Amino acid sequence: MCGIVAASAKRNVVDIIINGLQTLEYRGYDSAGIAVIEGDGITIKKQAGKLTKLKAQLADEPVSGHSGIGHTRWATHGEPTSANAHPHDSNNAIAVVHNGIIENYAPLREQLIAKGYQFKSETDTETLVHLIHDYQSDGLSFAQASHKAIRLLDGAYAVAITCMSEPGRIIAARKGSPLVLGMGEGENFVASDVQALINETDQFCYLEEGDIVEITADDYVIYDGNDQQVSREIQTVKMSADALSKDGYAHYMLKEIHEQPTAVANTIADRLLGGRVSDEFITPEMAQTLQQVEHIHIIACGTSYHAGMVARYWLEAFTGIPTQVEIASEYRYRNPVVPKNSLFLTISQSGETADSLAALRYAQTTGYLSTYAVCNVANSTLDRESDVCLLTYAGPEIGVASTKALTTQLAVMALFTLKMMEIHDKDPAKRKRLVKQLRTMPGIINQALVLSDQIKGIAEQIVKRDNALFLGRGLHYPIALEGALKLKEISYIHAEGYPAGELKHGPLALVDEKMPVIAVCPNDELLEKLKSNIEEVRARGGELYVFVDHKSDHGLSDRVNHVITLDASGSFTSPIVFNVPLQLLSYHVAVLRGTDVDQPRNLAKSVTVE
Ligand code: G6P
Repeated sequence: MCGIVAASAKRNVVDIIINGLQTLEYRGYDSAGIAVIEGDGITIKKQAGKLTKLKAQLADEPVSGHSGIGHTRWATHGEPTSANAHPHDSNNAIAVVHNGIIENYAPLREQLIAKGYQFKSETDTETLVHLIHDYQSDGLSFAQASHKAIRLLDGAYAVAITCMSEPGRIIAARKGSPLVLGMGEGENFVASDVQALINETDQFCYLEEGDIVEITADDYVIYDGNDQQVSREIQTVKMSADALSKDGYAHYMLKEIHEQPTAVANTIADRLLGGRVSDEFITPEMAQTLQQVEHIHIIACGTSYHAGMVARYWLEAFTGIPTQVEIASEYRYRNPVVPKNSLFLTISQSGETADSLAALRYAQTTGYLSTYAVCNVANSTLDRESDVCLLTYAGPEIGVASTKALTTQLAVMALFTLKMMEIHDKDPAKRKRLVKQLRTMPGIINQALVLSDQIKGIAEQIVKRDNALFLGRGLHYPIALEGALKLKEISYIHAEGYPAGELKHGPLALVDEKMPVIAVCPNDELLEKLKSNIEEVRARGGELYVFVDHKSDHGLSDRVNHVITLDASGSFTSPIVFNVPLQLLSYHVAVLRGTDVDQPRNLAKSVTVE
């Protein structure tokens, strides 16, 4: 959470920083700010609210400079006011932007107040900037003071610091929050994510935990956690600017929903070979370890957790391997028992989610056979710290509510299940059938997208309501949970997902003519059971919206007002398909409600605090 961009160049850096911040708003959008060294002082401009407010201010009060730091905030300490917005300065001599939480800020703050420092904000960040100033007052150089202060911090952080006494030099550091160094011709940059810098360079170094980097326009030096000078691998990252545009769509979310056929095709294309999953996806060496696996623990947060829930059904049903799935923040703190020969697998779009990373680091101390990750961001912390990373190829996902990332996570977990079937020698004929089904996914998702207008009609009904219930069973229970999560995230309508069989144990009490009940009703062995649950709702006057498979003999059209029919392929892949109309439903409801679809209130996409 929070996005950082900093630049040192021989040209004005303000546009570089602002354009970079624009691509980082997915990390938070409570406030935005910039600090540049201008003449013989630091000029800071900051505004509560989104970056557009800062841009408007800069249009009226332009600033320019050859080095500067910028920030977009997701508030942790202190309300999202302009006083709490970053950058924070000390005596207008040093300015800092920060992503993360400084856990030991309170005693440091007290010491600094005792020394006469006056705090202008409620943030933990301001402690750091006064601390550096204090060390400089004791005679240390900008670099010495910054290193000393950074090494004193507990918690998770990425920071960038600028100092009036050394214009052109920026010091940045990471521990627990991502930071990348970008190298240009006669200019250097740091940012929370490469996408902030793709218009400036394609040369990047991914900083490692504890690294401090000092940049000027002409040079950069990296120090490791022991303050030893190190070199880090330089990587060329090509990303088209189109990947970051809305490409004519009204919202990123809508674009990303429509990108799903391509995203799934990219994710499965080279990994299916004839009737099997290729050895490139899981190499023979990896397969040797996976052959020993007797238990699987899947750990994730948010939407990624729902991918894990679907995967559990697949893995247990098709490989017989006991599989648990758990929310990362719960797993990490409950001393989980790790049976012999267990595999640990994290699912995360960003690869930076603090709870998932904490769970991985904990798991590395508890005797798992291996740690696997399913992740959409190559070189993310999760990718680098897991033994094996199975990448999803969704492309950058910018809408805060996850759509194509989930779909590609499901595609990878389907591939993984099929490979585990092969490794554990399960039913070759069935495996071939399932591979065939998976191959059809891009086309089948395309067909589901065609329902958009019909779903808009339903959204016009649901938008009038304050609550909604989503029901599913078996493989589609996680899809019901995801449908409810999506609706609440972006439309702010209170929504709950329930296993349909649980209805009578509580939520049925909520059902009346004002309660929309959205049921995911695939053509599987639970269809008849689900139909009984639908009848229970109908008998209480609930407003039913039922998504059914066109192949099923559901017999619901005469009994339920709203039946939406789709081709869900086969029962293996149908959760992937049924999720698509639910995404469209949330999207249309949110648009009708006039909420901020891509940047819903209080949320952020990359959650780098625990
Ligand atoms: C945030 C995002 C969700 C995402 C979750 C987990 O809450 O808003 O869309 O599912 O984090 O993120 P991850 O990057 O680990 O998948």
